[in-house]
Amino acid sequence: MKVLLTDACARAIRYLEGLETRPVAPAPDAVAQLRAFDEPLPEKSGDPAATLRLLDEIGSPATTAMAGPRFFGFVIGGAVPVTLAANWLAGAWDQNSAYYRATPSTAFVEQVALRWLLELLRLPPECHGAFVTGATVANLCALAAARHAVLKAAGWNVEAQGLFGAPPITVVVGAEVHPSVTKSLGILGLGRSRVVTVPVDGQGRMRADRLPVISGPTIFCVQAGNVNTGAFDPIAEVCRHAHAVGAWVHVDGAFGLWAAAVPAHRHLTAGIPEADSWATDAHKWLNVPYDCGLAFVRDPLALQAAMAITAEYLPTQSEFRNPADFTPELSRRARGVEVWAALHALGRGGVAELIGRNCAQAQRFARKLSAAGFEILNDVVLNQVLVTFGDAAQTSRVIQGVQEEGTCWCGVTVWQGRTAMRISVSSWATTDADVDRSVEAMIRVARR
Ligand SMILES: Cc1ncc(COP(=O)(O)O)c(C=O)c1O
Repeated sequence: MKVLLTDACARAIRYLEGLETRPVAPAPDAVAQLRAFDEPLPEKSGDPAATLRLLDEIGSPATTAMAGPRFFGFVIGGAVPVTLAANWLAGAWDQNSAYYRATPSTAFVEQVALRWLLELLRLPPECHGAFVTGATVANLCALAAARHAVLKAAGWNVEAQGLFGAPPITVVVGAEVHPSVTKSLGILGLGRSRVVTVPVDGQGRMRADRLPVISGPTIFCVQAGNVNTGAFDPIAEVCRHAHAVGAWVHVDGAFGLWAAAVPAHRHLTAGIPEADSWATDAHKWLNVPYDCGLAFVRDPLALQAAMAITAEYLPTQSEFRNPADFTPELSRRARGVEVWAALHALGRGGVAELIGRNCAQAQRFARKLSAAGFEILNDVVLNQVLVTFGDAAQTSRVIQGVQEEGTCWCGVTVWQGRTAMRISVSSWATTDADVDRSVEAMIRVARR
């Protein structure tokens, strides 16, 4: 065991050290080599060292360097080294972290991490939370709590009776709602398309002057951080409007909630603490390993009503929080361990430095690309930059060329009818020199 695990550690370190110099996208021949995995199921046990060697020799070269400093696609954080180390240790513990009595260490660490998160993100201290796989499932959990609460207020127990015959729920979203929210609405029986859609402005923000007049059970879904522009919905206005008639406000803040951790960007989060539930990710901007998202709900009973189960064999009685009372899973790994490690090692100041640095780096991208003559399509308020290199065909050609050139990796989007390169700066590892190297590569490819 010791030899195997030491070998795994050495290989992982070699992989991470190689990220600085390798192309960000995997080489086509490395991807072609993946066929080597496609063997018949082995009949007999083999040498575990050979298993690990195959995984590394074939698997590692075909990865995308998302853990490195110049991956700017989607919204991808790397893993701060202490969080990877904590992940390894917690992996060795192999705790099924559903109930405090069975796994006190991980359950307690998660409880502390949740308290710290509420403080850091400036959310109400009475909230309960859940560590789940990502913001998609966090949206699902929070909206399940919302569904419970608005139907309970209408005299209906949705967990017991389901939605057949239930009072209808009005769901209000912005035209720029993230598809993970609409997917969650579909899973919850509220309908992906059965929504009232509020028009948005040029940055993708809900127009506060177009909020619908509502009555009856209603859930508003607002966004903190548009995946393309980084823009925030007018959440304070929406909360005022919704709460006047007892509606629930849910905030999808997959990465935007983290603006609250930085004094210079905190103004963007105005109104967010007034909402009723929130979804965010730790695997994005807190830079913990995949997968780790977070749901917070002000009314703890609503989340618990939607998620908790009981059974004679389960140790549900506890003086401390049982993680599984708040999550869709029963058996689960303790994702909060890496979050605790990140917050413990970085502290409030370290998190603020990380978020603030990435925002400044997004500005740096925008400034340099604009100076080179390329059009920036969004107001760069956070860590997202949208840039065009000409018409749709030229922009797509540049994006493809940048991905192939390998210095960095950025994806494509269409923003309000215009094809653009999305640059998302979300990694602890990114330096200003990485930004400069990446801009130079983009300009080189664009002028080719
Ligand atoms: C605003 C927003 N919500 C939800 C998600 C989904 O997050 P995850 O992929 O962690 O489930 C994303 C992902 O980028 C996002 O930007």
